[in-house]
Amino acid sequence: MSELVDKEAFTQAMRRWASGVTILTSCADGEIHGMTVSAFSSVSADPPLVLVCANQSSTTHGVIQAGGIFAVNILAADQDELSTRFAFTDAAERFEGVPWTQGSTGAPLLVGSLVQVECRVRSAHLEGSHCIYIGEVLHTFVRADAEPLLYFDGAYRRLAPKA
Ligand SMILES: Cc1cc2nc3c(=O)[nH]c(=O)nc-3n(C[C@H](O)[C@H](O)[C@H](O)COP(=O)(O)O)c2cc1C
Repeated sequence: MSELVDKEAFTQAMRRWASGVTILTSCADGEIHGMTVSAFSSVSADPPLVLVCANQSSTTHGVIQAGGIFAVNILAADQDELSTRFAFTDAAERFEGVPWTQGSTGAPLLVGSLVQVECRVRSAHLEGSHCIYIGEVLHTFVRADAEPLLYFDGAYRRLAPKA
């Protein structure tokens, strides 16, 4: 059995993975919370399932565990400030001045997101530092007039115009 790759090499390789950016929100005991997450994927169409990976040290992980629900707000190209805010500012200030509505699960839905995905937790899997949440999708809302925010090599990008 060969040795595992070292953390620096792993991180450098993963930076080359281009992704969208989401704000993962949840609600438990009347308290809302959210953080920036790029580890999001569709899992299955029948039944409709998605996954998110939340660091076990994050507050969001604890809130999802307690509430059993979450929402994924896929950010539009003009929402990079929200990504920075939900990753680096004090949790208590993240929703200040940000328009949002409470979805059917109670998790915040951020106004202006490209897509909002409301989920209830189907299963949770602890792997390494993270928890992989599989969510059953209850509702989706799509904003047809916008393009996605992208993240690559530690920086925000946009789709290039069609050639
Ligand atoms: C672009 C970007 C993507 C991120 N993706 C993830 C992710 O997929 N999972 C995760 O646990 N943290 C991710 N983070 C880090 C969290 O957003 C950050 O640690 C946050 O402060 C955690 O908040 P909380 O402890 O209040 O829940 C990401 C940060 C950035 C800037």
